[in-house]
Amino acid sequence: MTLHVAIIGSGPAGIYTAEALVKQSAEPVEVDVIERLPTPYGLVRYGVAPDHTSIKSIANYLRRVLELPQVRFLGGVTLGSDVSVEDLLGVYDAVVYCTGAMVDRKLGIPGEDLPGSVAATDFVNWYCGHPDVDPARFTLDTSEVAVIGVGNVAVDVVRVLAKTAEELRATDVPHEVLQRLGESEVKAIHMVGRRGPEHAKFTLKELRELGELANADVCVRPDEAVVLGGDFPRQVQGNIKVLQGWADREPVGRPRRLDVRFWLRPVEILGTERVEGLKLERTRLSEEGRVVGTGEFETLPVGMVLRSVGYQSVPLPGVPFSDRTMTVPNEAGRVRDREYVAGWLKRGPTGVIGTNKSDAAETVRTLLADLDGGARVGSRGIDTLLARRGVRPITYEEWLAIEAAEAELARSLNRGERVKLVGLEAMLRASRP
Ligand SMILES: Cc1cc2nc3c(=O)[nH]c(=O)nc-3n(C[C@H](O)[C@H](O)[C@H](O)COP(=O)(O)OP(=O)(O)OC[C@H]3O[C@@H](n4cnc5c(N)ncnc54)[C@H](O)[C@@H]3O)c2cc1C
Ligand SMILES: NC(=O)c1ccc[n+]([C@@H]2O[C@H](COP(=O)([O-])OP(=O)(O)OC[C@H]3O[C@@H](n4cnc5c(N)ncnc54)[C@H](OP(=O)(O)O)[C@@H]3O)[C@@H](O)[C@H]2O)c1
Repeated sequence: MTLHVAIIGSGPAGIYTAEALVKQSAEPVEVDVIERLPTPYGLVRYGVAPDHTSIKSIANYLRRVLELPQVRFLGGVTLGSDVSVEDLLGVYDAVVYCTGAMVDRKLGIPGEDLPGSVAATDFVNWYCGHPDVDPARFTLDTSEVAVIGVGNVAVDVVRVLAKTAEELRATDVPHEVLQRLGESEVKAIHMVGRRGPEHAKFTLKELRELGELANADVCVRPDEAVVLGGDFPRQVQGNIKVLQGWADREPVGRPRRLDVRFWLRPVEILGTERVEGLKLERTRLSEEGRVVGTGEFETLPVGMVLRSVGYQSVPLPGVPFSDRTMTVPNEAGRVRDREYVAGWLKRGPTGVIGTNKSDAAETVRTLLADLDGGARVGSRGIDTLLARRGVRPITYEEWLAIEAAEAELARSLNRGERVKLVGLEAMLRASRP
């Protein structure tokens, strides 16, 4: 009997799970991929930086999975409001949760909620055209910005801030966002790490790109680039070498300047009505390897603070969740009887797109070892249930119509391959012309 599986979330984890399910030969399987947005691909569409077009092209691989005859895409359906866990377990033999990590981690310092203190999650959603964020949300009307964190998301955010609108013109950045980037008054960007160059989380390729910015000088203070000890992994050695190379560079008068700073932790975001500065404390490592303050402070005169200190998952109604790890507790992907998890919701917000493939494969192995044939109706059952509730899912073909409208918009604006449509209404209109 065919096994009917619902996958919740159409990011890389969801789609790799669908692929692993239909490509195995032990069981015939049919999969419904249920997604809250009208569009598939999760962070590949709404996270990967717009100027990283080769990474974004992973969508071309993922689309082939959605086009397999055993796979259906149901967009615009949210677990929690349109369907419940009970609904799904009533019609599917198994449910795999792949809803990622959608919200920002908090710094927990005074001033964090001032206007001008912004989570990288929101800023990334803004330049990626996510329907949750209004394109009018950000005006870059300040000359100095601090980006807290030295991971790859911080590097993405810094690059978008540093580039000119012209450099981003051929990307899919929504047109209103591109105009706002064109009006940016930002002159100085400070990227701040609370530990040293040897602890930074960014990868070498992404770091090097900052050194190639045509519109910004990149500076590192020689004393902050010093690293003691030497037995580091190759990636780390590469990062250190690049950063130390920048410490010897003289700025050549480019319109913007990026300062990459280390050994500074944020202690307060200053201001009354809005952000007027960022107070930092110099740090060192304690004997136990913890970051501790030295009592030496410095204030950056910034009008915007972008907090890029990691993403985190949110609990799904009716699904177990650990407030400690902020993930769904699981054993090799198994949550409970007939319930499974994959991707960032399973292991936390780390790893590149490809990491989700092996992660999904593990979950699928567990699922197939647990279940022996299907007993439920799958698609027919969910279609009836959604129709009764007046929920009309966006089909894969309707998503293709959204894509076509984005390509048409790009042509009409004389931009690149596509320009994102912003807002659910515009997407829905395009999906049902
Ligand atoms: C800003 C950023 C840039 C990145 N850039 C790169 C990069 O350049 N290269 C790289 O290799 N990796 C990159 N990554 C990492 C990569 O994006 C992740 O590893 C990957 O997307 C995680 O996959 P996922 O499927 O678990 O989550 P996601 O991609 O977040 O997918 C989750 C999906 O679930 C949906 N969903 C959420 N809640 C519900 C619900 N209740 N009901 C239905 N659907 C729901 C969401 O809308 C989303 O589509 C980046 C990450 C971020 C944050
Ligand atoms: N091009 C790409 O391949 C790409 C692009 C974007 C994202 N990604 C991936 O997506 C994942 C998430 O990236 P991310 O950048 O969000 O997370 P990340 O890699 O975990 O980096 C988070 C950064 O925030 C810092 N931080 C955390 N708490 C802090 C605090 N309270 N005060 C100051 N700094 C703090 C961390 O410093 P500590 O180390 O000291 O904790 C670290 O520098 C990563 O696996 C990343 O590689 C990949």
